[in-house]
Amino acid sequence: MDVSEALKNRRSIRVFQNRPVPAELLKKIIVAAAEAPSAGNTQPWEVVVAQGEALETVRVRNEQLYLDGVPARADLPNIFNAGKVTEAWPEKLAKRYQDCGRLVLGTLGIERGDKTGRQAFYRAMHRFFEAPVLLLIGFDKRLPEGYAMYDLGLYSQCLCLEALAEGLGTCIMAAGVFYPDMLRAHLPVPPNLNLGIGIALGYPDPAAPINHFERQYAPPEEWVYGL
Ligand SMILES: Cc1cc2nc3c(=O)[nH]c(=O)nc-3n(C[C@H](O)[C@H](O)[C@H](O)COP(=O)(O)O)c2cc1C
Repeated sequence: MDVSEALKNRRSIRVFQNRPVPAELLKKIIVAAAEAPSAGNTQPWEVVVAQGEALETVRVRNEQLYLDGVPARADLPNIFNAGKVTEAWPEKLAKRYQDCGRLVLGTLGIERGDKTGRQAFYRAMHRFFEAPVLLLIGFDKRLPEGYAMYDLGLYSQCLCLEALAEGLGTCIMAAGVFYPDMLRAHLPVPPNLNLGIGIALGYPDPAAPINHFERQYAPPEEWVYGL
């Protein structure tokens, strides 16, 4: 697969096969992605692997916190901590965000007013879509978060592409780090680590329409200037 093809083929996977990821392959992917660029080659990413029993525990706890209506309290300020998520955003971005939600839910046959359907989707999301592996990507709290999060983004995309090359699927997940204190209680999270993002990883279910719908991309006229 060449690079352009990989960029096109990488997509968020939200239904996984019930099939474990071999340990050697998991390690290969995690390590290969560390060839990502980073500011001053600091390589600030640190990866906590959740799988097996520990993952089942955090899956259940994460879902329960969501069902109990406990507000997300991520280590870093993120869009979901804000309550009214898109209110202050530029209109075109708010629209893209809302369109994305409509597209994902619409593919599942969940209409706007369908509260039960929406809750079922958000429950699945808080269970990390039943992925056999959840990776938590973090960085040391003493680092300035601007570049550290930028570098985590680069690492994340490299990991998603490497996973794709190995026949695996990924979903980068804010919902993976909504409740960091719960995660710290059950997973080997080193002290001083800010949990920046989660990545669900596993073999994609090829039959699930949610893994195949056509994505929408803003035309370059909306975001490239002077070309
Ligand atoms: C920082 C970040 C956080 C995300 N969090 C979630 C999430 O919590 N739940 C989810 O289903 N998808 C999440 N996604 C996936 C995006 O919805 C997805 O990347 C976007 O819709 C584009 O689709 P694609 O990944 O298939 O190209 C996240 C992506 C990023 C980059």
